[in-house]
Amino acid sequence: MKPWITVGEAVSPDGTRLELVEHDGEYIIRADDLPLMSTRMHYSEVELARIVCKKLKPGAKLMIGGLGLGYTLRSALDLLPKDGKVVQVELVPEVIDWNKGPLAPFADHPLDDKRTILELADVTKVIRGARNEYDSIMLDVDNGPSPLVNEKNGWLYSDQGLLAIRSALKNGGQVAIWSADDEPRFISRMKRNGFRAQKHMIQTHKGKGGIRHVIFTGRKT
Ligand SMILES: C[S@@+](CC[C@H](N)C(=O)[O-])C[C@H]1O[C@@H](n2cnc3c(N)ncnc32)[C@H](O)[C@@H]1O
Repeated sequence: MKPWITVGEAVSPDGTRLELVEHDGEYIIRADDLPLMSTRMHYSEVELARIVCKKLKPGAKLMIGGLGLGYTLRSALDLLPKDGKVVQVELVPEVIDWNKGPLAPFADHPLDDKRTILELADVTKVIRGARNEYDSIMLDVDNGPSPLVNEKNGWLYSDQGLLAIRSALKNGGQVAIWSADDEPRFISRMKRNGFRAQKHMIQTHKGKGGIRHVIFTGRKT
């Protein structure tokens, strides 16, 4: 049996222990020993961008919170006009290093695309600093509105966080939020903070049954 090899280790600013491990050509990022992302399962990460980037105008500007393995970034770049920009925000410097190193080929080198603007920052701060700036904001920084890896990320799903996301979007712009599970009350929270909200159940693997994740989308009204 092929061994699991630790390729890199990091501690995020909130104290979460991250580990990049490789096994038989597959890479996994673990957070406090639990699998966070795998190069084998990324359909819902690709869908996160596909759902809100279908009809982008020339010069569109996007934001993605959470680089992970780079699949959402790749999916957004594939739909972005030539003169568009995508601001990729990532909190942990080592995750960026891994994406410039062994992970780079998996999502076809999205950090090398001239339209990618990489920011080493906390996405909650970048959102707070933006006004009427983005056509789409895609967030995959945690497990979703309640089972958090990082307590601070909880703000993103609160009334204050949703209002700040709304301010950061252009009129008619859309947010997409990845969640491990359904959150029955989250849609109504999005609605009361000025979004036309929808819930999308997404399979982990395209065309197969099994585990489903949820993507919440909201258009700024
Ligand atoms: C599940 S992964 C994202 C997966 C990504 N969608 C993909 O396609 O591979 C979550 C990422 O969010 C980052 N992260 C967590 N909290 C963050 C924050 N507040 N701001 C920016 N990045 C954050 C983590 O370091 C990790 O890289």
